[in-house]
Amino acid sequence: FTSDRYKVQRGPYARITNEHTDFFDSLLGPNRVISNSEECEHYNIDYSKIVRGKSNLILKPKTTEEVSAILKYCNDNRLAVCPQSGNTGLVGGSVPVFDEIVISMKLMNKIIETNELAGVLTCEAGCVLEDMDNHLATVGLMMPIDLGAKGSCLIGGCVSTNAGGLRLLRYGNLHGNVLGLEAVKANGDVVDCLSTLKKNNTGYHLKHLFIGSEGTLGIVTKVAIQCPPLPRAINVAFLGLNSFDKVLKAFQLAKKELGEILSSYEMMDKLSLDVSTGTFDLKNPLTTKPDGHDFYVLLETSGSNNIWSLRERISEGILREGYVFKYDISIPLPSFYKVIEVLRDRVRDPRIIRISGYGHLGDGNIHVQISIPTYEADIAAQLQPFIFEYVSSLRGSVSAEHGIGFTKTKYLHMSRTPSEIDLMHDLKKLMDPNGILNPYKVLHPLKTLSSII
Ligand code: MLT
Ligand code: ZN
Repeated sequence: FTSDRYKVQRGPYARITNEHTDFFDSLLGPNRVISNSEECEHYNIDYSKIVRGKSNLILKPKTTEEVSAILKYCNDNRLAVCPQSGNTGLVGGSVPVFDEIVISMKLMNKIIETNELAGVLTCEAGCVLEDMDNHLATVGLMMPIDLGAKGSCLIGGCVSTNAGGLRLLRYGNLHGNVLGLEAVKANGDVVDCLSTLKKNNTGYHLKHLFIGSEGTLGIVTKVAIQCPPLPRAINVAFLGLNSFDKVLKAFQLAKKELGEILSSYEMMDKLSLDVSTGTFDLKNPLTTKPDGHDFYVLLETSGSNNIWSLRERISEGILREGYVFKYDISIPLPSFYKVIEVLRDRVRDPRIIRISGYGHLGDGNIHVQISIPTYEADIAAQLQPFIFEYVSSLRGSVSAEHGIGFTKTKYLHMSRTPSEIDLMHDLKKLMDPNGILNPYKVLHPLKTLSSII
């Protein structure tokens, strides 16, 4: 089990009894309470199949009031919970570590209001990102965020993790695009910050507490999002380049010539592109150079088309190779690709299938993937903490857009100062004194658990 690999102890939470289950049955009705171990399995395993919990209870609320009643009861009874959205996260934040009750937000999927004039969509947290985009297209708008996982990720999870994605270069992150939200605190209190105003400098900006805190300070139940107009033209270019230096030069040129209409600048090395073309029925459209190029760039000025699959499906395709050590780092552009070369040099092992890099060059964020048939502890030890120390020495981020979740808690201090982490602990204590919300995630479990024992 994951908890053994990560050496985490179960916190001092109550164990689920029949009395607890009866309460949830009476609150939600038996169809929205899952306790059959076969059905629970799906909610216990994360997208990358790296983290596995052992929860025996899944709850599926349909309203904010139900989320509130669940949390109030769990807080009063010291039952730990794991909020779960589309479960497409890559750092183990959305699955339980032990027997935390999973609160699945899937059934809270109503659109509340589409304000065409203001370009604001208000909806429940369980709406699927792609459905939202399709809905908005009917009124000439679009979501400011796009992810490879758009077909299954839910907006509440995107907001809770401040997910980045493929349009961030142009539209910015969710701290900017979420105008307001509603969230439920650990004790069941509902915090209504569901404003749709663009400007509102009246006191503390509380919505930011819930954006990117990965369900550790509250559960997001509704969101109001600023949606840009759907672009009229679709322009996408796929470039083959023979050195990383040329990738950077082309980026400079694209920014200069295209200005604010540049919406994506995504980079893939040859080994990453091979994942898409080798796994799926996708072809490299650049056939002029038989051996292919060392680097590829997918550049977009608006809209989307099929070439995007080459880029979007790398993450999905590499999982078919076995176990993937995955790193999501922000790093200054001059060193952006160096990290791949450094790792290839450092970790030479015949068991490794590929060490490849791709990602959001336009945002200074590279995804590093090391694939291997099965997890090997000695390879893990060669990679970590080395890669995080390397990133930290360049003042980069150890998690640019995937979050800290469960698997990266040990490395938080490499991208945040001690004073920032102290304040995070203070906030956690204030918002969730019993530590029931998504325990073992984001903050180092030893410190959070010691404060509630
Ligand atoms: C992406 O950019 O494709 C996603 O962040 C997933 C990944 O890291 O592969
Ligand atoms: Zn990404």
